[in-house]
Amino acid sequence: MLDAPKNRPDLPAEIARRRTFAIISHPDAGKTTLTEKFLLYGGAIQMAGQVRAKGEARRTRSDFMQMEKDRGISVSASAMSFDYGDFRFNLVDTPGHSDFSEDTYRTLTAVDAAVMVIDGAKGVESQTQKLFEVCRLRDLPILTFCNKMDRESRDTFEIIDEIQENLAIDVTPASWPIGTGRDFLGCYDLLRDRLELMDRADRNKVAESIKIEGLDDPLLERHIPADLLDKLREEVEMARALLPPMDSQALLEGTLTPIWFGSAINSFGVKELMDGIGIYGPEPQVQAAEPRQIAPEETKVTGFVFKVQANMDPKHRDRVAFLRLASGHFQRGMKLTHVRTKKPMAVSNPVLFLASDRELAEEAWAGDIIGIPNHGQLRIGDTLTEGESLRVSGIPSFAPELLQNCRAGDPMKAKHLEKALMQFAEEGAAKVFKPAIGSGFVVGVVGQLQFEVLASRIELEYGLPVRFESSQFTSARWVTGPKAAVDKFVNANKGHISHDNDGDIVYMTRLQWDIDRIARDYPEVTLSATKEMQ
Ligand code: G4P
Repeated sequence: MLDAPKNRPDLPAEIARRRTFAIISHPDAGKTTLTEKFLLYGGAIQMAGQVRAKGEARRTRSDFMQMEKDRGISVSASAMSFDYGDFRFNLVDTPGHSDFSEDTYRTLTAVDAAVMVIDGAKGVESQTQKLFEVCRLRDLPILTFCNKMDRESRDTFEIIDEIQENLAIDVTPASWPIGTGRDFLGCYDLLRDRLELMDRADRNKVAESIKIEGLDDPLLERHIPADLLDKLREEVEMARALLPPMDSQALLEGTLTPIWFGSAINSFGVKELMDGIGIYGPEPQVQAAEPRQIAPEETKVTGFVFKVQANMDPKHRDRVAFLRLASGHFQRGMKLTHVRTKKPMAVSNPVLFLASDRELAEEAWAGDIIGIPNHGQLRIGDTLTEGESLRVSGIPSFAPELLQNCRAGDPMKAKHLEKALMQFAEEGAAKVFKPAIGSGFVVGVVGQLQFEVLASRIELEYGLPVRFESSQFTSARWVTGPKAAVDKFVNANKGHISHDNDGDIVYMTRLQWDIDRIARDYPEVTLSATKEMQ
């Protein structure tokens, strides 16, 4: 294996071998297929095809997912752990649909790198672009997989140019495709001087790999027809002259992405990509926190909740908080401090999401993701430590882009509705605002589809039919500032004031003009579209 310089050389071996990443892509580019092949090579499943089957089973178990099934979109994120060679991979699944971008954003706070999958015929599509921009905000290292090379695809230089131009990132080819569509033979591995040949007859077979001594090796002529070989030599020469070489530091800084070409469905190029994630992908990184950052090698355990999923099993009203370990060596039964409430918390039933099933986590290390079943104590943004008062930062909450009033079909059930809405708010599925004047709730989401998901979940999980109706407001902003100024502002604008589920003050309006006016009239008051979860 190639050796890449690491930016955290002092990590204990168990932490250094961890690679925690997510896959970002536009729907249909091949994320599910690629995940399936990852798990296959990680020994987590015996046969390709099980992820989907498994997904179905999981969805049947928690029937709120009926909608997801009907629409063929993934609204839930989960984590999968598996070993690959010397590495432990933690793959965090991101919800694919654009309506769930806030959830995706938070998921991306829990990973150290992202694999960007693009379709070789389509290039950079809208959702890829959006997700990429989220990664960019955190300077996440990105490794690229150009999929579906077994089909007619775009010219290799054109694909690379498109990524460089649209995403403003340097691209270095890790492999170079030979032929396209029906004539696609395989790839030349530029990092290891190997020829990888695709076997079209057996989709689960790992490609034949032939060691060669550079592009002048006569061995190439035995495997590649003359016209394709000429083209390969010419293109690789051009690529080497025009494109930057592999540079692991630039990858770690998020300014360069290596690209592998392959075909997930044919298991082609997947192993090379996995090797790349292991060799070049970052180890668990330092975590931003207040009042100090957290280094993964610290012996004390710290972790933060980036996702809460409720009612995974409708028979038990349980919730699972997904905790990313930021440091230390966690052991089952440990007593950790829940920093927000300052209360101790014995973590006795942590779950490790091994792809084959949920399993009790006897131990876990910085970089891992464990699930902690709880009854609502754990919220998104919460930090757990061994006593120190640290708070992980950088997990934002965004102002919703759509607001609707929510009412229970049966007015006697208003209290139940409040409970249900609060649960979804804590899970991060919606923002819930209680207006200062009047009754009822205003629910805020990022995409229209979320209202439907919520209505269906409230009915399924709480037996409460609800109605969403249009609200007089279209924007919400959190209000902060010196207390006297905020009080004065609130008193003068009562009709626009609500409280969110944390009790924080929110100003609602339908006019940008109002927001501009407030900036003028109340210079001490700040209206903001994001809030740090705490
Ligand atoms: P997604 O999770 O990113 O949405 O994509 P998914 O893996 O579900 O793949 C989308 C479609 O593309 C699937 O076809 C899948 O079989 C196909 N696909 C994935 N990788 C490759 C590849 O390397 N080459 C080719 N030619 N196709 C690929 P489908 O018809 O929608 O589903 P299915 O009936 O095959 O399951």
